[in-house]
Amino acid sequence: MEISLLSICYLIGSVTFIIGLKMLSHPETARKGNLIAAGGMSLAIFGTIFLYKDGGEGLHNYGWIFAALVIGTLVGTVAAKKVKMTAMPEMVSLFNGMGGACAALISVIEFQHYFRVSGIHGDQATVGIAIGTLLTIFAGVIIGSISFAGSIIAWGKLNGSIKDFSFKGQQITNIVLFVGILVVSGYLITNIDFTNLYLFYFVLVAALVYGVLFVLPIGGADMPVVISLLNSFTGVAAACGGFLYNNQVMLTGGILVGAAGTLLTILMCKAMNRSLLNVLIGSFGGNAAGNSQQAVQGNFKEISVSDAAVCMAYAHKVIIVPGYGLAVAQAQHVCHELEKLLTDKGVEVSYAIHPVAGRMPGHMNVLLAEADVNYDKLQEMEQANDQFKNTDVVLVLGANDVVNPAAKNDPASPIYGMPILEVELAKTVIVNKRSMKPGYAGIENALFFQPKTSMLFGDAKAALQKLVAEIKTV
Ligand code: TAP
Repeated sequence: MEISLLSICYLIGSVTFIIGLKMLSHPETARKGNLIAAGGMSLAIFGTIFLYKDGGEGLHNYGWIFAALVIGTLVGTVAAKKVKMTAMPEMVSLFNGMGGACAALISVIEFQHYFRVSGIHGDQATVGIAIGTLLTIFAGVIIGSISFAGSIIAWGKLNGSIKDFSFKGQQITNIVLFVGILVVSGYLITNIDFTNLYLFYFVLVAALVYGVLFVLPIGGADMPVVISLLNSFTGVAAACGGFLYNNQVMLTGGILVGAAGTLLTILMCKAMNRSLLNVLIGSFGGNAAGNSQQAVQGNFKEISVSDAAVCMAYAHKVIIVPGYGLAVAQAQHVCHELEKLLTDKGVEVSYAIHPVAGRMPGHMNVLLAEADVNYDKLQEMEQANDQFKNTDVVLVLGANDVVNPAAKNDPASPIYGMPILEVELAKTVIVNKRSMKPGYAGIENALFFQPKTSMLFGDAKAALQKLVAEIKTV
């Protein structure tokens, strides 16, 4: 077998993609891993552009290809540079949608290609298409379209422009639509009918509508799980493109994205103690507030900055629980300053990280890494839950749902069963947030009303700056 230069480019692209993915699993190596994978993919792209030969002929349309490359690179770079950390899931969703659209378009173009060939020959049999190729074309168009439409809806929901929407009988409609897509596709595949472009376009449009209907009713808090699922769909759809073009790097990349997305989806469901089916049809986080039976009542008490400063400066052990509010306030640097200050005073300080704190997987890890917080100071949920009972002060910074005891003791709560950080086991809990408003799941938090909890109101950055200034004087 002759090994071409292009195959070597693809091999390097595939290997660097795997290495990059592995390196993404640790904050210290993630940036480098991303660059390595991107470098390998660039090599595969330019290899295809300059080395690909079909029957001795190279690619055409270089003008279009480079115009698309330049525009895509510019848009991608500007978007990635400008995006706020809190808006990252939106951007991931939008970009994922574009991947799904590309995969679907590949299938559309390939089907049209066979349609034209069959027209020229006037006889479908002479087209000589394998059933596997047809299956791949349909899988690509269905999965890619669902991923595209679903991701755009998820993007709109995350940026607030699209609201949760469901109607009576929606699940039945979805099932009927999906079965319809499969039946028509099955008919076209088994009859190898290229003369009927309309039926093919029916599959395309129905898959787009299904993508919209599938994501529209899913509650806001479940969006990351859905995005991760759609991400795995895009991977599978891209792998179909790899099959069609016999392109190894597309195939490897697609399969890896598909597998990684599936694993992430499973891990997130586990972290929330919910099944994927419950996420997809449970409408969690949509109108969740009204479901809980245990009304949260009582008085909360406030703590002044100086009292909080004394409390923390004289503690032996402090655990900081970061949440979404810390990211909104961009208070990670001053948070690190507080940690160093307390450590200098002999206090043992660490951070407790909930797997779904914030708005995207690993949100808190990335945020704290940005402020150069030592990775060894971060404790995972199980580890932290063992530590709380020996902790003098827990400082909750802009976290809410991830410390809500209703997840443990209110079976009617929409977050019931989700593992939480059991901060109430510590001697004292100080909660910083701006008001008594609920968090993402839209539910009250009884923690704030417990006798050992004190509220330190204010924007996290401002509150921490005051706390740091005060501790310096203690
Ligand atoms: P949340 O439950 O959303 O609570 C965040 C709290 O931060 C709010 O109650 C808010 O209260 C406070 N806050 C907002 N801005 C603030 C500021 N500038 N300074 C101080 N506090 C501020 O956050 P969480 O505990 O991190 O939980 C995450 C939730 O999001 C979970 O329900 C999770 O399922 C869901 N979710 C997770 C992800 C992933 S994968 N991480 C993605 C999407 C959704 P005030 O308004 O009173 O200040």
